[in-house]
Amino acid sequence: MIGEPAGSWEAEITTTYFNDGRGDSVSRSPVEPRDPAPGRSTRPLVGRNDESVLLGALLDAVRANESRTLVIVGEPGVGKTGLLEYAISAAPDFKVGRVVGVESEMELAFAALHQLCAPMLDRLDELPEPQREALSIALGQRAGSAPDRFLVGLAVLALLSEAAADRPLLCVIDDAQWVDQASAQALSFVARRLSIDSVGILFATRHPINELGSLPTVRLHGLDTVAARELLLSVVSSPLDEQVRERIIAEMRGNPLALLELPRGLTPIQLAGGFGILEAQALTGRIEESFIRRISSLEDDARRLLLVAAADPVGDPLLLLRACERLGIFVSALDADADGLLTVGERVTFRHPLVRSAVYRSADVQERRAVHRALADATDREVDPDRRAWHLAAAAAWPDDTVALELERSAGRAQARGGVAAAAAFLERATALTLDPARQVDRALAGAQASIYAGAFDAALRLAATAEARALDEFQRARVDLIRAQLAFAASRGSEATPRLLAAARRLEGLDASLARETYLDAFSAALFGARLNETVGLTDVARAASAAPRTPGVAPRAADLLLDALVMLVDDYEAAVPRCQEALEILSGVQISAEERLRWLWQGCVVALEVWDDESAYLLSQQAVKIARDTGTLSELALALSARTPVLVLSGEFSAAASTVAETRSVEEVTGISAAPYGGLILAAWQGHAVQARELIETTIRDAGSRGEGVGIAISEYARAVLCNGAGQYQRAFVAARSATEYQEVVAENWGLSELIEPATRTGRADAAAEAMNRLARKAHATATDWALGIHARSRALLSDDEDAEFHFLDAIDHLSRTRLRAELARAHLLHGEWLRRMNRRVDARSELRTAYDNFASIGMQAFAERAGHELLATGETVRKRTVETRDDLTPQERQIAELACDGLSNPEIGARLFLSRRTVEWHLRKVFAKLGIGSRRELAGALTSSGSQPPAIGDTVKPA
Ligand SMILES: Nc1ncnc2c1ncn2[C@@H]1O[C@H](COP(=O)(O)OP(=O)(O)OP(=O)(O)O)[C@@H](O)[C@H]1O
Ligand SMILES: [Mg+2]
Repeated sequence: MIGEPAGSWEAEITTTYFNDGRGDSVSRSPVEPRDPAPGRSTRPLVGRNDESVLLGALLDAVRANESRTLVIVGEPGVGKTGLLEYAISAAPDFKVGRVVGVESEMELAFAALHQLCAPMLDRLDELPEPQREALSIALGQRAGSAPDRFLVGLAVLALLSEAAADRPLLCVIDDAQWVDQASAQALSFVARRLSIDSVGILFATRHPINELGSLPTVRLHGLDTVAARELLLSVVSSPLDEQVRERIIAEMRGNPLALLELPRGLTPIQLAGGFGILEAQALTGRIEESFIRRISSLEDDARRLLLVAAADPVGDPLLLLRACERLGIFVSALDADADGLLTVGERVTFRHPLVRSAVYRSADVQERRAVHRALADATDREVDPDRRAWHLAAAAAWPDDTVALELERSAGRAQARGGVAAAAAFLERATALTLDPARQVDRALAGAQASIYAGAFDAALRLAATAEARALDEFQRARVDLIRAQLAFAASRGSEATPRLLAAARRLEGLDASLARETYLDAFSAALFGARLNETVGLTDVARAASAAPRTPGVAPRAADLLLDALVMLVDDYEAAVPRCQEALEILSGVQISAEERLRWLWQGCVVALEVWDDESAYLLSQQAVKIARDTGTLSELALALSARTPVLVLSGEFSAAASTVAETRSVEEVTGISAAPYGGLILAAWQGHAVQARELIETTIRDAGSRGEGVGIAISEYARAVLCNGAGQYQRAFVAARSATEYQEVVAENWGLSELIEPATRTGRADAAAEAMNRLARKAHATATDWALGIHARSRALLSDDEDAEFHFLDAIDHLSRTRLRAELARAHLLHGEWLRRMNRRVDARSELRTAYDNFASIGMQAFAERAGHELLATGETVRKRTVETRDDLTPQERQIAELACDGLSNPEIGARLFLSRRTVEWHLRKVFAKLGIGSRRELAGALTSSGSQPPAIGDTVKPA
């Protein structure tokens, strides 16, 4: 299945110790790390046999072409980095990529990814253009508009997979708790999508990280007593009182860093008696204390040099030198007196991250500011303006408009590099440093907006509050309201957000007419989602307010304006609205609208097209919406576009394409974490007649959408239930479901519900309900006069007609529907006509109609309806031959999807991009497809797929001729 998430599990590793049976420990062969990172000791690992075995197995799997990921979680000093070093030393046949998260770089988007990818950038040219561009922008190599983070992930996926083509690759991400969010998301995406690529990824983190939540995780505990004792004794030279020793061991809870570092610098006397005083502190604090003790005993210059190194996240030795020069620090102090706390090589590295924080914490504020000032001065304004701005901000004692301006500019750049979160962080600091109150408000609002995009709702609220605390002009106040309303919509679709968006739009009217009208469209979206669950404010209220909204004088109406007008009128007066809707659809389908407008409004356009029964526009707009969202990698929009696309494909009888978009929707939602009703999936399952699957989707959707306030999810679920039951001839249930789908006259859902309602109403003798539905349907059909609406209308009317008139209406329905794309609805018209003919005892005519219906159902894949047609055919005395073509293969859904995309002419990298897989994984699946189908080339694929492909229902197996 596409997008199966890697199972989330957490294994507890407890360190077992070999025992010779007499209760004494046997000394184990220590695991010797080779080639440690610069600045790290080469101490052999003690007491980590199980972990070594686990890592060894992981490496073996990677060698055997199975990508593996492991997140190691454990408290500071417990030995995570030690284990990573061990893994590296156990993988001499691997290429190794290293990343170390740096606390002060957390808000620099893609900083960590930069570390990983920099050595591989020579392969950049091999990537497809959109991915290459996204990654180059993300890594700050070229300017451009914000790349989608999943495109970046895809690029990294491709890069790693290619890098591992000749030799397995081990990526080691240490201190992942400090990896910037954008990198963490990209890395987690990559880890989940790697498949048969020979890539191993190891993360080490002090605490679980949301972004890595779905990856396999182990928790690393402290050493057991025996190993702890061994480690402690290796660093204590003087004899140690046995009781004191055991107490230290107990207190340190097997933490190797504590065992190694705490006793250092303590006299034997302190060691013997002084530990009680430390008991109150947390372990990290204690270890840090021990470093602080050592730092404070250093010469002043050495100590200040450490501080400069601690304040610089880059670890660039030249930068360190330049900054020290400015501060008048003699760098020779390092050699003389740094006690091995810092190593200056190609990079400046601390002995342990806690040394860095101890150094930084133990310095006073003034000293820190001076150091950041020097680092800012030493940083090249051209090459690294963002870090420079960051240092300047840290150096600023008071609000400083110049620094704030630089931060604001950095925010712009950070956003362009794809880090909305970084932009938000820069803007938040800029806000804090701004003196001019009006500018401060603007920056706060910009920061709040960026935070919403970044999903950082708390930050958005904070910034909105900062803005509100100032004297606001009216426009600023209105924007604050808008931010709060958008936050409500982001947090929960529907009922709560609608009134707020509406109020925001009203307020903006006199201030920025265009923004106001766009906000009304947002309010429409919220109200459409909320539908029957809208509480205080619904569509009518939005429409009423929007209709009175002023337009920007002298400006020709934009697509958004036309769309808004159309929606307003739809609520008010369906008949009058239809021409407006058609006008808006024409503009939206035309070439004169910008890509941005297309991205933003096509989805709503498709909703309008469906509401006015315009299958052609719905088909084309949804196709374009999907394409543009895919091309730009805008996955949030892609999810919406796909949710409109799938039903259109289903009604058109393109089930295999629909199955593809359902799978793609799932992939997109999985990687983005979007949770929405599975509209496409449940409609497809219902039309396919997959009862068990459809029912399950319907029940969960009704429950989940209900609790989210997503009323339209309930309506569409009821519609799907009606289709399912009509197919199975369960008219009682179909009637109840269809009536429920139409009850609230919701946009689109009402049309579809009415299409399903009249048939079960007539079959269960509910003439009144049928007549009422017929009136509603007639009104819409006359207003739109599309073949779709007229066809459904005629089909329903035939069911309600006398015997003399019925045939005319059936034929009329077939005539209209055959002029649409809606093959599935057309086949149902043939079925109903055939059933009627049989009741009229016109056997020969009935057979021909039922045969047409049956063949169409079978070729589309409408199992339940095909069975219904099959039964009718049998009743006319016709033998139903089994139409199922023997399947020669049993392709998995993923293989089938890949094969179909290959058939469509997509290259392997393009297929990979569509399904979020590496090129190599696609190749691997295709090889399996070829083997299963017994073919040797892509050219033979199309033929092999059709002869093995869509499986019409096996009527002949289940029904015996009468
Ligand atoms: N099993 C072990 N045997 C011997 N020494 C160890 C062992 N585990 C860790 N050490 C040593 O303990 C110290 C701390 O370990 P390490 O740096 O791996 O901890 P960590 O979990 O990465 O901590 P942090 O979260 O602070 O990065 C290092 O000096 C390391 O060499
Ligand atoms: Mg570590």
